Amino acid sequence: MRVLVVGAGTMGHGIAEVCALVGHEVTLVDIKDGILEKAMQKIGWSLRKLSEKGKLKEKAEDILGRIKTTTNLAEGARSADFVIEAVVENTDVKREVFKILDENCREDVTLATNTSTIPITDIASATSRQDKVIGLHFFNPPTLIRLVEIIKGEKTSNETLIKTIEFARSIEMDYVVVEKDVPGFLVNRINLRVFTEALRLVEEGYKPEEVDAAARYRLGLPMGVLEVVDFSGVDVVYYVMNEVVKRGVKIKPSKIIEEMVKEGKLGMKTGKGFYEYKGIYSRARIPKSLAYKVNSLRLIASAVNEAAWLIRNGIASKEDIDKAMILGMNYPRGLLEIADDYGIDAIIKMLEARKNETGFEEYEVDLLLKEMVDANKLGKKSGEGFYKWNYEKVEFGPVIYEKRHNYAMITMNRPNKLNALNEDMWIGLNKAFLRAEEDKDIRAVVITGKGRAFCAGDDIAVMGSWKKFMDGKEFFEKVASPLVETLMRYTKPIISLVNGYAFGGGMELNLFFDIVIASEEASFAVPEGLIGALPPIASTLGVALLGRKLARYCLTGEQMDAEEAIRLGLVDMIVPTDQLEIAGVEYAGKVSSLAPLSAKAIKESMRALRETFKASLDAGMHEIIELIPTEDFKEGMAAFVQKRRARWRGE
Ligand code: NAI
Repeated sequence: MRVLVVGAGTMGHGIAEVCALVGHEVTLVDIKDGILEKAMQKIGWSLRKLSEKGKLKEKAEDILGRIKTTTNLAEGARSADFVIEAVVENTDVKREVFKILDENCREDVTLATNTSTIPITDIASATSRQDKVIGLHFFNPPTLIRLVEIIKGEKTSNETLIKTIEFARSIEMDYVVVEKDVPGFLVNRINLRVFTEALRLVEEGYKPEEVDAAARYRLGLPMGVLEVVDFSGVDVVYYVMNEVVKRGVKIKPSKIIEEMVKEGKLGMKTGKGFYEYKGIYSRARIPKSLAYKVNSLRLIASAVNEAAWLIRNGIASKEDIDKAMILGMNYPRGLLEIADDYGIDAIIKMLEARKNETGFEEYEVDLLLKEMVDANKLGKKSGEGFYKWNYEKVEFGPVIYEKRHNYAMITMNRPNKLNALNEDMWIGLNKAFLRAEEDKDIRAVVITGKGRAFCAGDDIAVMGSWKKFMDGKEFFEKVASPLVETLMRYTKPIISLVNGYAFGGGMELNLFFDIVIASEEASFAVPEGLIGALPPIASTLGVALLGRKLARYCLTGEQMDAEEAIRLGLVDMIVPTDQLEIAGVEYAGKVSSLAPLSAKAIKESMRALRETFKASLDAGMHEIIELIPTEDFKEGMAAFVQKRRARWRGE
């Protein structure tokens, strides 16, 4: 097959190389010999690099030998079997080129254009074979990004589509089909939504590093959003954005990008864009500690809305959208998979909040998303979103257990009692943890509390009913110990989301959890001492795990906020309250990507550590059991309950 590539610039020379690599004969056309010579040099350089890496099956010269060059378009056209046009992005120039191609190519030849912004239909109308004109959109550089978007113009025939798919396969490219000639096609349409949100965040005063930290460390993108803009060229993004806006895509253009273009801050190529670059290998430094400054949901909400629009209008399938973002933009997972993780309801909430804040029409929630939520298709949290997920929900008394495909969500659900640990709660938690432990699909467990509290600790009502030694002992042996034993032996990573009060046992449980994420509103205390001489287990456990400073809190019952809890090592990180849930989802994702065996090995080795504090735990338990039958305990309980009642009455 002989492929004609018209235009030997950035894209044209790469496309010619990709075609020659698989064995096609190539004719490369441009307007000047000098341009063609440069293009051949670049291809030669690239082939030699591939050869040095041992990636070529034949000699670089042989591959290069399959590419011939000419400045005579008509002559090149006469011998072509398939044409890819990659000349400058100018409608008149492209139409002129297509006219010549139409006049000189064999009747059956497909004419493909690599345009990014011009309607395929406009280019096709310059020919007398509109059914044979199609979009074939590569990404830069085509040798590395092995994806093409295949775009049908208004009159493109199915036969042409099939031929183009076959051609894409022949050059070993993955492809997605864009069924209608919409501005921006698929990838750019979605990208522009993400870019726009990132630009707006900068306009609001966030630092580029803060925006990109959320993209890199939470969404898992290989490059931050603004890094991508710098890499692509600020001017290029600005141009594409303006073009699609002109063609009717609803995006309120950002001022910041216009100013940057005026100032010549064009990104990597000028050494300055959102970041400064010294040399070609220089990369922006983006500290991990900034990851929770910007809500990662905000970066993708509009993009998911856009994807919903594409699906609902029959322009692209959900599978192709995810494939395009993975292969074209190097996303670690599909955009819609990410949406299913975060929850469609959360996406809608974000869009509605943005609409309220800005009044911009572009945040109007797409009908498809609304329908999904109405049908309870919320994503992993309900078993179906854009995709189907393994899901089960079981209630173990006041504990809700949900299997969300690859992780378990355990929710303490006694909000009106601040999720206090009564018998049912202890038993329910144990059952839930065991259920997750036994399920092979589950790679991580997330635990949180419903309402204002994570867990306010042992239920005073239960403790108040202990009259004698045996009651307390029995309670600990039969009710509390099994959970403690389960957690001691647990082999799966546990992520705790401390949403509010974590008092007494509710704080102490966190000593067993692997990653403790607190919301800004979280508050910790071990006030057992105030309740009639009962030692908090933390007085022993805390010593073993965190150091003696916990004694201050045990002896006084003082509350500590999340910041202090971080200093003590009880909490790993603090996130804004509205991001706690998605932080859990993100960490469940991170932990789930660990090989189950290595997660287990890590837990097993930490078990040895847990065993070392078993003795101190037992000592604490023993003290409690000893104290229960005493007068002090009875008096303390009575006083505490009275004090609480008084507080409730507002005295
Ligand atoms: P470029 O400016 O690097 O190359 C365009 C080439 O076309 C130049 O060498 C120019 O001399 C040549 N040319 C102009 N008029 C011609 C004619 N009448 N006949 C033959 N050659 C002619 O541009 P680039 O970046 O390679 O873009 C080419 C096309 O690819 C555009 O439609 C662009 O939108 C699209 N595209 C660009 C991407 C990119 O990242 N640069 C990515 C995907 C698509």
